[in-house]
Amino acid sequence: MGDIRVGIIGVGNIASMLVQSVEYYKAIDSNEGLIHEVIGGYDIRDLRFVYAVDVSSEKVGRDLSEAILAYPNMVRKFVNIPRLGVTVRMGRILDGVAPHMVDDFKPAKLPEPSEDELVREVLDAGVDVLVNLLPVGSEDATRFYARVAARAGVAFVNAIPVFIASSPTDSIVELALENRAPILGDDIKGQLGSTIVHRALASLARMRGAKLVETYQLNIGGNTDFKNMLALERLKTKKESKTLAVASTQDEPEVLLREERVYAGPSGYIPFLGNTKISHMYMRIKAFAGSDVEIEVKLKVDDKAMATAVLVDVLRIAKILKDNKLGGSIPWASAFYFKHPPVPVKSDYEALKMLYRGLEELGVEARPKLLEYY
Ligand SMILES: NC(=O)c1ccc[n+]([C@@H]2O[C@H](COP(=O)([O-])OP(=O)(O)OC[C@H]3O[C@@H](n4cnc5c(N)ncnc54)[C@H](O)[C@@H]3O)[C@@H](O)[C@H]2O)c1
Repeated sequence: MGDIRVGIIGVGNIASMLVQSVEYYKAIDSNEGLIHEVIGGYDIRDLRFVYAVDVSSEKVGRDLSEAILAYPNMVRKFVNIPRLGVTVRMGRILDGVAPHMVDDFKPAKLPEPSEDELVREVLDAGVDVLVNLLPVGSEDATRFYARVAARAGVAFVNAIPVFIASSPTDSIVELALENRAPILGDDIKGQLGSTIVHRALASLARMRGAKLVETYQLNIGGNTDFKNMLALERLKTKKESKTLAVASTQDEPEVLLREERVYAGPSGYIPFLGNTKISHMYMRIKAFAGSDVEIEVKLKVDDKAMATAVLVDVLRIAKILKDNKLGGSIPWASAFYFKHPPVPVKSDYEALKMLYRGLEELGVEARPKLLEYY
């Protein structure tokens, strides 16, 4: 099948988990923990990192194998990584570095490349898929790199809540459509993260004829992702993405949203937690004869593992879409994997069915099949 040539935008903690996990799965010769073992003949071991961009003086200019372990990244080194022969390139800072994050992301004092220069670099590196792993709130920077991908005709995976894939009339999506460059997004929904667990419980209430009355989801963690989100103005889209993901499981999401009866978002930075994310969820549900049901859940996960499990599926799907010359935003490919997809879907079962049907139309098989879908 050949390799999937991946370019990384933002060499932070997820990038570290992603690069290390490919080596980890090569070393253990098992597929335990993956969502899909094989998609269209591609295995996790077919992912190859050929390009990377950051703006931090700790990372730019270093081999990707070293940059993923540089300050302030904190995913522990859990596997040996060979030198990758990929030097992290200087990117465009724009709004990627919030004022309170300058000591963490330490912008390098180097000339910033133009859009034309980056398009050339991406083409020269033979990138198939660019994955956007910038800090939340990087609206301008995400749009800048998404345009680079669209112009270069490569796939773009948008892991963060900047609404591009979910805005089908956006000029970048139109450009990507013209250039047959697929865009998948927006905002990764972790493997067993707070969003999917919360959605599953809310969907269950609906499936049993009960109704979600009010709910919250409070998340705390201790990495730069959570520290960056201390700036409230950067959080807006994250909250929107998480809140809509929960509300859209119900019959009247607009009522829940209008009455502000759903709250879901990051709620605190606690340094000693590191990459551990703790999520507290509460739901009040009206059931039979007006009776109240309350559910409270505590979830504790390795936040970066949860995101990466999804990325390794999505990168393979992005490559398949590109090889099939499908450009622009592709709703069926995003719904299962992202919190704020182009078309919100009531349950993740429906989203998975959409994915399998879409792949089947392309003659592509995913293994194992996680549900019957006829
Ligand atoms: N479960 C999850 O971890 C999860 C789920 C959904 C979305 N996300 C989002 O994914 C993104 C990446 O997460 P992370 O933990 O790897 O973040 P991180 O803070 O560890 O890394 C961000 C990286 O981006 C770099 N950067 C900043 N501005 C830049 C620019 N203009 N150009 C290039 N690089 C730039 C920083 O130097 C840093 O290396 C975050 O926005 C996060 O909210 C994460």
